[in-house]
Amino acid sequence: MRVMIWGGDGYLGWPTAMYLARAGHEVVAVDSYLKRDLVCATGAEPLVPVPPLAERARLFRAAGDAEIRVEITDLREPEAAHRLLREYQPEAVVHYAEQPSAPYSMRGEDEARLTLLNNLGVTFNLIQAVLHHAPDCAIVKLGTMGEYGTPNIAIEEGWLTVTHEGRSETFLYPRQASSLYHTTKILDTDLLWFYVRSAGLRVTDLMQGPVYGFDAGVSDDARLLTAFHYDELFGTVLNRFLVQALAGHPLTVYGRGEQRRGYLDLRDTLACVSLALAHPPPRGEMRIYNQFTEIFSVNELAARVISAARTLRMEATVAHEPNPRFEAEEHFYEVRHRALLELGLQPHLLTEEVLVGMLERLRPHAARVRPELFRPRVRWGRPRS
Ligand SMILES: NC(=O)c1ccc[n+]([C@@H]2O[C@H](COP(=O)([O-])OP(=O)(O)OC[C@H]3O[C@@H](n4cnc5c(N)ncnc54)[C@H](O)[C@@H]3O)[C@@H](O)[C@H]2O)c1
Repeated sequence: MRVMIWGGDGYLGWPTAMYLARAGHEVVAVDSYLKRDLVCATGAEPLVPVPPLAERARLFRAAGDAEIRVEITDLREPEAAHRLLREYQPEAVVHYAEQPSAPYSMRGEDEARLTLLNNLGVTFNLIQAVLHHAPDCAIVKLGTMGEYGTPNIAIEEGWLTVTHEGRSETFLYPRQASSLYHTTKILDTDLLWFYVRSAGLRVTDLMQGPVYGFDAGVSDDARLLTAFHYDELFGTVLNRFLVQALAGHPLTVYGRGEQRRGYLDLRDTLACVSLALAHPPPRGEMRIYNQFTEIFSVNELAARVISAARTLRMEATVAHEPNPRFEAEEHFYEVRHRALLELGLQPHLLTEEVLVGMLERLRPHAARVRPELFRPRVRWGRPRS
């Protein structure tokens, strides 16, 4: 397939580019370096320096792999989106190109505006460019499990059938997020659903949980590792815990730590995206898959990291921080996630062996860890009564 990856320089985008190129697809990776700019502006550099995208593509090719074409352009610009779809005529676009940090989006008005305009703007430009130049192109869009929030009923896979006064209708499952970032993802889903219904787009919306992992299992070259963040803004929780254990810093659990979420290994993200590409919906259909493999509370994650750290003779402890987020700390959480398994996903589970392997992989970089980046400084929890 000719696949374009929007956000191809990111934590998920770069490993996806390598994985799909290795699998024989023609890959074009597009990015504006927005994430690198935000990282620079906030001082939250990744654990290991990451070469520019074109350099990574060159190294990948030089090691005997397929070509990954690179386009550095801002997808907020409508003309950039139109040109790319016109020139490359992709059969599929994987859309990762958003500002993905909840705390960043809650930092202040400017950060909120950037998140809103960037995320919705890029999704809208993608829709328009596909409709104009490649209407059969399948869109694989990364959504998030955070769109659903934590309702007091089971979370279905995208849709809910409601019976009211004896009549039934199936709607998008109700969504209620707890950050502006997650709210932009809800708006994305709604926007795509409108254009699927009204203009016949083909969309798969992947409701993904927080991803963990450093090594996508595609290349052993350290220069091709993905950008691994562990700070309060851009690091996901398990990645942060691993680095905290490595640095001998207490694992910072927000609040009581009973928040439950569905998580997945970076390697499973690649497999899920690949499955979505291999099974595109027909025109005028939107498929929504809940993309995670296991549910853990934050306390359970911390306990597993501590146990793995002890295996490597590292002393790890927990420190509960006042919760900076607006979220329920204890809640019902039952979520369906069958569709990707039925398509053939074979999950990598979070075993002690996997955790020990990740710690060992991270260990050579321990000297670069900056513990001051762990502390949560963005607070948007509702004041407690
Ligand atoms: N990482 C996770 O745990 C996770 C979980 C659920 C959902 N997601 C979703 O997956 C997607 C990718 O996440 P990630 O962790 O790789 O984020 P990331 O920030 O590392 O990658 C996103 C990439 O998109 C690029 N980008 C953003 N706006 C752009 C624009 N206007 N033009 C061109 N490029 C632009 C950024 O520069 C960045 O390289 C996001 O949409 C995110 O919401 C991620």
